[in-house]
Amino acid sequence: MTAEDTLQQARERIGACADPGALKELEREYLGKKGAVAAMLAEIPKLAPQARKADGQRANDLKQALQALFDERGAALATTKLDALLRADDFDPTLPPPRALRGGLHPITQVTRELEDLFTSMGYEVLDGPEVELDHYNFEALNISKDHPARDSQDTFYCDDAGRLVLRTHTSPVQVRAMEKRKPPFRVIAPGRVFRQETTDASHDHTFYQMEGLVVGKDISVAHLIGAMKTLLRGMFGRDLEVRLRPGHFPFVEPGFELDARCPFCEAGCSVCKRTTWIELLPCGLVHPNVLRAGGIDPEVFSGFAFGLGLSRLVMLRHGIDDVRHLLSGDLRFLEQF
Ligand code: PHE
Repeated sequence: MTAEDTLQQARERIGACADPGALKELEREYLGKKGAVAAMLAEIPKLAPQARKADGQRANDLKQALQALFDERGAALATTKLDALLRADDFDPTLPPPRALRGGLHPITQVTRELEDLFTSMGYEVLDGPEVELDHYNFEALNISKDHPARDSQDTFYCDDAGRLVLRTHTSPVQVRAMEKRKPPFRVIAPGRVFRQETTDASHDHTFYQMEGLVVGKDISVAHLIGAMKTLLRGMFGRDLEVRLRPGHFPFVEPGFELDARCPFCEAGCSVCKRTTWIELLPCGLVHPNVLRAGGIDPEVFSGFAFGLGLSRLVMLRHGIDDVRHLLSGDLRFLEQF
């Protein structure tokens, strides 16, 4: 068979081939090691030297022409197969692709950022303070002397033998640091991590988050405190909530209060407010004169209010989380829900 005949025959067979497997088979028959083209090339050394060049050329041209035919047909069959797949009844182009795992902000970070936005919009400055704190700022300057019973409820981790360095038990030490560096009037918040020597359970952890607030100026009163807290509630729950003050004792405020808000989740009592319709929001009060003095501010001229918002508690309230220990567990099954 001449090269032209071989090509003609191959063209017809390739064109008639509708199956990729059969096409591969056919390709082997022509272009494989024992194929037609290989056989032609094997004949060449036996030819007279003058004929070799022309025959070799013909065999190579045939090889290239065949290869082009197989490639073209192969591509056409692949497209047909994809088309068929796309048209199949069980192919749903609206199915979402497999979801890539994406990181997210921790719910405590989310709430912290929201509150920072809210308070900066009211002219507050956002402060940071050391987590390893001097006993002086954590206790002494806050009117909690060495033998004060309030130290029992805030037992901490001591970081040196002399007992001068502690892990801060609350964000209140930032109050004093803020006063030392500023002249009234000023407004600050200080969100951050705090630590307590504590037997852990569903509502106590050794590490948790608070946000301190402090406002100092002339004639700052409980009315200002209530106003600021109502704005806070509006920002957090999107509507006005009734508040009430109960007496509360903290050595660094006088008078000191526990501020409750109407339960944002019910009208007649639910599990969150333990059927009372009130939720404990935060401790607060007017800054004690001794604390103002410790911060270098004259209590005869200026007054202030302070509050300590429990961020961990707030996040639990917001998302209905029943165990604080989830928050720092690092468990992805928990974290992926936010
Ligand atoms: N620092 C107090 C605590 O952690 C809370 C508090 C802050 C109370 C500010 C009054 C004023 O318990």
